[in-house]
Amino acid sequence: MTVSFFRKLSCERNAVLFGTEFLVRMTTRERWRVYKRISLMFFLAVVTLTVVHRGNITSMQDFQGDRIERQAPMELMAEDYKKDLISGSFWKTVQRVVSTTEGAKTTQKQGPTSWDVTSSNCSVNLNFSSSEWFTGLEANFKQFLLYRHCRYFPILMNHPEKCAGDIDLLMVIKSVITQYDRREVIRQTWGKEQVIDGKRIKTLFLLGTSSNEEERANHQKLLEYEDYIYGDILQWDFMDSFFNLTLKEIHFLKWFSTYCGNTRYIFKGDDDVFVSVPNILEYLEVSKDLKDLFVGDVLFKAKPIRKKQNKYYIPQALYNKTLYPPYAGGGGFLMDGPLARKLYGACETLELYPIDDVFLGMCLEVLQVTPIKHNAFKTFGLVKNKTSRLNREPCFFKSMIVVHKLLPPDLLEMWRLVNSDLICAQKMDFL
Ligand SMILES: *[C@@H]1O[C@H](CO)[C@@H](O)[C@H](O)[C@H]1NC(C)=O
Ligand SMILES: *[C@@H]1O[C@H](CO)[C@@H](O)[C@H](O)[C@H]1NC(C)=O
Ligand SMILES: *[C@@H]1O[C@H](CO)[C@@H](O)[C@H](O)[C@H]1NC(C)=O
Ligand SMILES: *[C@@H]1O[C@H](CO)[C@@H](O)[C@H](O)[C@H]1NC(C)=O
Ligand SMILES: *[C@@H]1O[C@H](CO)[C@@H](O)[C@H](O)[C@H]1NC(C)=O
Repeated sequence: MTVSFFRKLSCERNAVLFGTEFLVRMTTRERWRVYKRISLMFFLAVVTLTVVHRGNITSMQDFQGDRIERQAPMELMAEDYKKDLISGSFWKTVQRVVSTTEGAKTTQKQGPTSWDVTSSNCSVNLNFSSSEWFTGLEANFKQFLLYRHCRYFPILMNHPEKCAGDIDLLMVIKSVITQYDRREVIRQTWGKEQVIDGKRIKTLFLLGTSSNEEERANHQKLLEYEDYIYGDILQWDFMDSFFNLTLKEIHFLKWFSTYCGNTRYIFKGDDDVFVSVPNILEYLEVSKDLKDLFVGDVLFKAKPIRKKQNKYYIPQALYNKTLYPPYAGGGGFLMDGPLARKLYGACETLELYPIDDVFLGMCLEVLQVTPIKHNAFKTFGLVKNKTSRLNREPCFFKSMIVVHKLLPPDLLEMWRLVNSDLICAQKMDFL
């Protein structure tokens, strides 16, 4: 993968960036600078490839991965799908948002106009470290609690220009340094920046820093080069880990509130999903009069998981209620820009919670906004029954908004199928 990444870069991108026409127009000094840069990058790439090939690339665990434990049964999902097909009411399965004026009450404070956090100097909080409830916790929860009060970190790669002007849809994708192959495929497929029917679409990837020292040394430079080429990476100075996904959530909300005053809608999701942008736009068109729009694969009355082996296990000491507020699976959801700004304020009133999508549900609860469940969002997966035909059925994907989970080769293949001369009789029923 690393090799093909570089071959790609050098063939396609450099051909565009450093094509002869371009070089002719440059002064000798500029040309020299570019050559120096390329040589340096090439050297770095060779060094990195050598190290990576010694084999630590698999050490990065896919912590955004499997949400299977929380998902609805596959059979039910297929039922929904059939029902929608039959009733032909696909895009109309919109529940009203139960929204009060509470949300609107949050006054529009004039916030900072640039990222205002410059020090990541946050010391460990030992206030409760000798309490009995704390000493009995697993190591990862201890780590989380000791640093829970550290809410914001400096920004390492920023792109305020992304939100310049009126943006209709901003796609933000949670990623980690090592998953550049996922980012590559997303840029080629559903994350392509474009204007569709006059609607401007922009894409950004959200990253923290590497959680292990080796990776940090090897990959950070590559990431900088990737950003130099594509200019679509936001990186903050906190460690990418499962529990820190909540930090990613609030950093994005703060960033959005700072820079994106004229952005109408946000799609936020994982880097291992299939997304249909035409279906998003169609949905947003139908829903354009809704205020406080927040729609996704919503779980109502989900219970905190108390089985220790489970990835989503939460000890009583951290959350002692029996139910979570309604929340949308973090694999992919849509919200409107004004709501995102209110959410930033609402989240500020809460202590961080280790599961990012549940945390966002808690923020929505503060605003008394109920998220909408829509059947075109399948973030809890198609993985339960791996042999089911729906997993490979392009007509199914063509009628969805988000489907979890597809890795690069499958995503590319499915994308090609969906965008070929595919004839799906039923798809017409939705529209
Ligand atoms: C970091 O915090 C400590 C204690 O709060 C303080 O003494 C130190 O000067 C700070 N360092 C920086 C670089 O801000
Ligand atoms: C720890 O406790 C002290 C005294 O109660 C309080 O002032 C401080 O804010 C607490 N620290 C954190 C990080 O909550
Ligand atoms: C989150 O990131 C911060 C900053 O890098 C780090 O100190 C903390 O340990 C991380 N928390 C977890 C739970 O990984
Ligand atoms: C649940 O947690 C809250 C806040 O941490 C605490 O005030 C309350 O006493 C706890 N309730 C039970 C039954 O443990
Ligand atoms: C999975 O789907 C296949 C094909 O639809 C079906 O034959 C099989 O019984 C299913 N397996 C389970 C465990 O539901």
